[in-house]
Amino acid sequence: MTRTVIRGGLVITAAEEGRMDVLVEDGKVAALATPDSALAEGWTADRTIDATGMYVIPGGVDAHTHFDLPFGGTASSDTFETGTRAAAWGGTTTVVDFAVQSRGRSLREGLDTWHAKSQGTCAIDYAFHMIVSDVNEHTLKEMDGLVEEGVTSFKLFMAYPGVFYSDDGQILRAMQRASGNGGLIMMHAENGIAIDVLIEQALARGESDPRHHGEVRKALLEAEATHRAIQLARVAGSPLYVVHVSAEEAVAELARARGMDLPVFGETCPQYLFLSTDNLAEPGFEGAKYVCSTPLRPREHQAALWRGLRTDDLQVVSTDHCPFCFSGQKELGRGDFSKIPNGLPGVENRMDLLHQAVVDGHLSRRRWIEIACAAPARMFGLYPRKGTIAPGADADIVIYDPNARQTLSAETHHMNVDYSAYEGKTVTGRVGTVLSRGELVIERREFVGRAGHGRFTPRATCQYLN
Ligand code: URP
Ligand code: ZN
Ligand code: ZN
Repeated sequence: MTRTVIRGGLVITAAEEGRMDVLVEDGKVAALATPDSALAEGWTADRTIDATGMYVIPGGVDAHTHFDLPFGGTASSDTFETGTRAAAWGGTTTVVDFAVQSRGRSLREGLDTWHAKSQGTCAIDYAFHMIVSDVNEHTLKEMDGLVEEGVTSFKLFMAYPGVFYSDDGQILRAMQRASGNGGLIMMHAENGIAIDVLIEQALARGESDPRHHGEVRKALLEAEATHRAIQLARVAGSPLYVVHVSAEEAVAELARARGMDLPVFGETCPQYLFLSTDNLAEPGFEGAKYVCSTPLRPREHQAALWRGLRTDDLQVVSTDHCPFCFSGQKELGRGDFSKIPNGLPGVENRMDLLHQAVVDGHLSRRRWIEIACAAPARMFGLYPRKGTIAPGADADIVIYDPNARQTLSAETHHMNVDYSAYEGKTVTGRVGTVLSRGELVIERREFVGRAGHGRFTPRATCQYLN
């Protein structure tokens, strides 16, 4: 029985904050007590962590990653091993990655493939959503079985015709199934059919630079798809979670639905909060580094995203970590922006960027922990095991230095990608030590974890619906 005591830190959860010592026993949080209290003084331990001057926060839950994803004629450059290690460096202790059903194949085959990729390689705990790219009678039946196995959420795409795209009838059927089995439908809400027309027209005009990616994937086409997804979910009687929301108009659709008490949820990502179309327009082919979908928007959209996070019209910030190296991968789209693999790196940066949002006054400390730890855990059936520091929870704990300054850079990051989307950005706050189920993964900024420590974690259904 290993006992660790974390002494002297400021414990912050989504619900409260205060100076508390934390006792960890056998991988779980055993107790919290006021420092210097008789209870805390009485704790004996194999290991004592001095957290004086530090925050003691739950490990981050990143509910949207793509490790080793075949996409855009290549595959995302982080494996489960490199990606989960980088996540830990950034204070994230649980990721929910997307297993993929290939067209013409079953959900089971897709899930088995993702289990094989991840088994024995992860530094932190992980779970899966399922991308459904072929809605048919067999797939619909399989959804029930996956919910039973702890894969309780299903991503559908209104974008990428011919790849992941589902039409409205398929979406409605999947939503009807989810309304019966407790699954949560996650939606990539962009009108991909209309976007493909605009891509073709732009390329015919000779508009081939990365910035045109942002111009053809219009905010109105995100808003339209978001609206349509909400109406389809209402008809089906199912809940809906809209992923990677970037447009102000899409936030308005979510806010309207939530104002009607509909079980509609939304996620945004750091890239939409901190980056913009200015990055897509960087000279030469540099803008390719920022090609993702939904795309980066003009800076003016950011205020609506921050507001949505404060008003709870957006509940979660995930990374949509889907890295492609500039050299050899993003370059596939030189001369044709539509061939640039879509996706940005960020699994290592999320907790720090959101802490910077606290420093900048966009968020309170507790809301930081809520949108990065507690809400994603609740949304995807992992709470209170993950996402909080409370007796009985997994001891996934980060000792965070709120005063350290760091400059984000590809030179120093641990993600397996040759650029940083935030190159040169200085932020205040940095991860010091990370525990996953009570075991040290990062110790005073040294990686001491191991591939294979991380376990597949079956999930319950969405906990905002019970
Ligand atoms: O550009 C993105 N978002 N790439 C990853 C796939 C997706 O749609 O989430
Ligand atoms: Zn997507
Ligand atoms: Zn994604």
